[in-house]
Amino acid sequence: MKLLTAVTGASGMIFIQAFLSLCRKQQDLTVHGICSDSGRDVVMMELGADVAELEGVTHWYDIDDFTAAPASGSNDYDAMVVLPCSMGTLGAIASGLSMNLIHRAADVMLKERRRLVLCVRETPLNRTHLKNMLTVHDAGAVVCPPLPSFYFKPASLEEAALSFGWRLMDQIGIDVAGRRRWR
Ligand SMILES: Cc1cc2nc3c(=O)[nH]c(=O)nc-3n(C[C@H](O)[C@H](O)[C@H](O)COP(=O)(O)O)c2cc1C
Repeated sequence: MKLLTAVTGASGMIFIQAFLSLCRKQQDLTVHGICSDSGRDVVMMELGADVAELEGVTHWYDIDDFTAAPASGSNDYDAMVVLPCSMGTLGAIASGLSMNLIHRAADVMLKERRRLVLCVRETPLNRTHLKNMLTVHDAGAVVCPPLPSFYFKPASLEEAALSFGWRLMDQIGIDVAGRRRWR
C-alpha cells in the first residue's frame, strides 16, 4: 500500500508522530509526505524538529512542486491523510483551490474517488469551518478530527495520541497488531 501524508499548520503534531510510529511497523506500507510552510513552523514549535526528521516518511515532496506525482490522477497512492489539517487547508480543499501541492493532491484523491482523510483541528468552530467540513464530506472525504479515546485511560500524551493513530489506521484499512478496541 502507498500512503500520502500531508502536514499543515494546525496544532497537534504529536498525532502525526504517533501515526507515523504505527506506519513504521507496517510491512508493505510506503509513506510519502508533503508539508506546508506553516506546517514546518508548527512542527518546529511543537516537536522541536524539522519535518524531515519525522521518522517513517521515505520521501518529502516540495509544497510548490506541481510536477510531483501526487499532482496527477495517474499517481498510485491508495490513500491520503492530512494530519493535522488546518482550517485554511480545509477551506482550500472545500473550494477546489489547488494553491499548493497538498490542496491539489487532495483534489486529485477526491476526483479519483480514493480515500482522503482530513484530520481537521480547530476550536471553537465557526460556521465557515462547519460548512467546509460538510462540503468535503459530501465530496467524498472523511472528516476525522484528531481526538484520543479517553476510555483507554492513556497514561501519557503519547499514549493518547496513539489511540487516535489506531482510529486513523482503521480509516485507511490497515489492521494494526496490538491495537486496543473497546471490550
Ligand atoms: C502555533 C500555531 C498553531 C496553530 N494552530 C492552528 C490550528 O489548530 N488550526 C488552524 O486551523 N490553524 C492553526 N494555525 C494557523 C495556521 O497555521 C495558518 O492559518 C496557516 O495559514 C495555515 O496554512 P496551511 O494550511 O497551508 O498550513 C496555527 C498557527 C500557529 C503558528
